[in-house]
Amino acid sequence: MTAPVLEIHLSDSDAADALHHDVRVGLSADPKWLPPKWFYDARGSELFEEITVLPEYYPTRTERELLRRSVGQIAARSAVDTLVELGSGSSEKTRLLLDQLAATGSLRRYVPLDVSESALRAAMAAVAREYPALAVHGVVGDFTEHLELLPASQGGRRLVVFLGGTIGNLLPAERTGFLTALRAALEPGELLLLGAGLATDPAVMVPAYDDAAGVTAEFNRNVLHVLNRELGADFVVDAFDHLAVWDAAEEWIEMRLRARRAMTVQLPAVGMTVHYAKGEEMRTEVSGKFRRDRLGAELVDAGFGDQVWWTDPRKRFALVLAEAA
Ligand code: SAH
Ligand code: TRP
Repeated sequence: MTAPVLEIHLSDSDAADALHHDVRVGLSADPKWLPPKWFYDARGSELFEEITVLPEYYPTRTERELLRRSVGQIAARSAVDTLVELGSGSSEKTRLLLDQLAATGSLRRYVPLDVSESALRAAMAAVAREYPALAVHGVVGDFTEHLELLPASQGGRRLVVFLGGTIGNLLPAERTGFLTALRAALEPGELLLLGAGLATDPAVMVPAYDDAAGVTAEFNRNVLHVLNRELGADFVVDAFDHLAVWDAAEEWIEMRLRARRAMTVQLPAVGMTVHYAKGEEMRTEVSGKFRRDRLGAELVDAGFGDQVWWTDPRKRFALVLAEAA
């Protein structure tokens, strides 16, 4: 077994600069907002893993079932030497792909990329232990910025996987930029496997983002703990309520934090004082839900043709394997 390699494209000081920038922009906007990647410190990554096993959170288990059904076909199409995974988190579902691709004999390297260094390190150690023949090359990075830095294939092709519906956490313009940058980072014939949530009944979607046990609420509020720790801010975290709202026009679930009372918050590291009115809502995340035709067309526009789709019988989630044209 070769020792795992960890490459860092997002140093602590880059991350601090990016956080300062995002907080300056987002908290001076009206309405206020924050980008979702700041949820994922060590605690946030743990809470996300708890979310994936909640009874209300259907995406993970639906996607796992789709992977189980499709890995054979994916492996048959993908004589790849490198599996790259964007926003890999715990790499849990990825095992299904690793098992199958390792069995075809061509896979030599796994390249997980995540902003959460703690989650990445834990996942890399586990994968390296379970797949001793596989080279594990982790990248601490931001998939909206560091795609051109991904390692090239080793003479064959790469398969890039982007699971969990994380594509829906990008705003539409960010998504276009992301898909275009991803296509530019790939050679013709390399493959993308994308997992995306589909628009379905709000009575199914909303509880997935507002569970009865309150884990998602804690996950959402965790971003305030991150700001308190990283910026020396003084958010009273418990004074914010978690909200998940289906926006039918945008076709996304919007996560918000609502101030239970009027508050003034100091953020010394960015030199800001921020006021919240009683009842004021701040957007912390969107989770876009897609229609197959539109997402397929977006992929084609970005340069991904030749698509194979899998969906569950209730049409809640989709996997699509697309080839860089
Ligand atoms: N792929 C896993 C995890 C999904 S949660 C699954 O399907 O269960 C989203 C993951 O993306 C988290 O691990 C988070 O740390 C990571 N992430 C979020 N924004 C990111 C960004 N801009 N760049 C890289 N990773 C990001
Ligand atoms: N990619 C996940 C999703 O959109 C992220 C997620 C799940 C999430 N639950 C959340 C983000 C709650 C913020 C709050 O499904």
